[in-house]
Amino acid sequence: MDSLFLDACRGRTTPRPPLWLMRQAGRYLPEYREIRSHVSFLELCKTPALAAEVTLQPIRRFGFDAAILFSDLLIPLEAMGLEVVFTEHGPSLPRPVRNGQDLDRVRVFDPWEGTPFVHETIRLLREKLGETPLIGFAGAPFTTATYAIEGKTGKNFIETKKLLYQEPETAHRLLDRIGAATRAYLLAQVAAGAQAIQIFDSWIGVVSPEEWEEFVLGPTRALVDAVKASGVPVIYFPNGATTLLERIAKVGADVYSIDWRLPLAEARARLRAGGCDQVAVQGNLDPALLLGPVERLRRQVARIKAEGEGCGHVFNLGHGIYPETPVENVEALVRAVRET
Ligand code: CP3
Repeated sequence: MDSLFLDACRGRTTPRPPLWLMRQAGRYLPEYREIRSHVSFLELCKTPALAAEVTLQPIRRFGFDAAILFSDLLIPLEAMGLEVVFTEHGPSLPRPVRNGQDLDRVRVFDPWEGTPFVHETIRLLREKLGETPLIGFAGAPFTTATYAIEGKTGKNFIETKKLLYQEPETAHRLLDRIGAATRAYLLAQVAAGAQAIQIFDSWIGVVSPEEWEEFVLGPTRALVDAVKASGVPVIYFPNGATTLLERIAKVGADVYSIDWRLPLAEARARLRAGGCDQVAVQGNLDPALLLGPVERLRRQVARIKAEGEGCGHVFNLGHGIYPETPVENVEALVRAVRET
């Protein structure tokens, strides 16, 4: 017995599903908003004592079964050499990567020099978390590349697709380079004390099966393999891409995080059809259900628990929690997941 969370990640059956929420630290919590009223988002990410504190806030309040490092997907892009700013509308990169020449500005970095604050935050957290496991994370090569190429959160991802179709060589090199940088970044998180890794592919839902095979599968599988070889379980989150699940099974993750668009039992069957025999799944409550009413929320929690039962189920949302979520509804969710 490791912990409920690590056991479930290893595909073991647990007495109840472990629970954590994507974006569990953040603006729906008054104690997070209090700290954010004094510091900018990037400052918060880069100040270990504060980043550790906001990581711990949801653990103290709800007793979640895993903590996730407080940081952002864009932090390693900055260390790769691209300027990143956070505005009230989200992240923005003033000089995006649009061609082969721009690629010269993207470099594989030494994480101990480029993002030392991440490792210090992880070290502090391991001291303070006790038995609660700590998840490290990064964006998957494709999702991170969309930020480098679009310069912001994409809508129809036209610039990204133009690069794939019009300069496929540059696209391959960019994805490989981001993959190599992310690999070093994640291995350093593990060395610093992260006990599991989640790879967020938040925008993979925009690629066709052909693009998945040609551009994405290779660098994503290489990244998953490298992190798995370090000994920690890897959770892969292909948001909005359940239509590709049989193909996605080829990335070889320990756990697949499923959005709310497909029932967990069907997701397991399709991952098996793709060649994954020991499939742990994570998910998959629609985060909008946390806006209420609680009765509907409870019904859906019971359904998901029943569907997830069996080998390895980590209870989570289908995507990140919304800032407008009432804290009482998160309390109701915690009770519903824990009751038998
Ligand atoms: O899960 C956690 O609690 C850990 C913290 C975490 C953040 N971002 C904090 C954050 C994690 C795991 C992320 C990952 C992240 N960042 C992703 C992948 C997950 C997903 O949601 O798909 C993506 C796509 C990003 C990029 C990003 N960061 C966007 C698009 C935005 C703006 C939109 C928004 O939600 O505000 C951010 C900002 C951000 N990252 C905030 C937080 C708490 C809000 C910043 C603030 O306090 O103003």
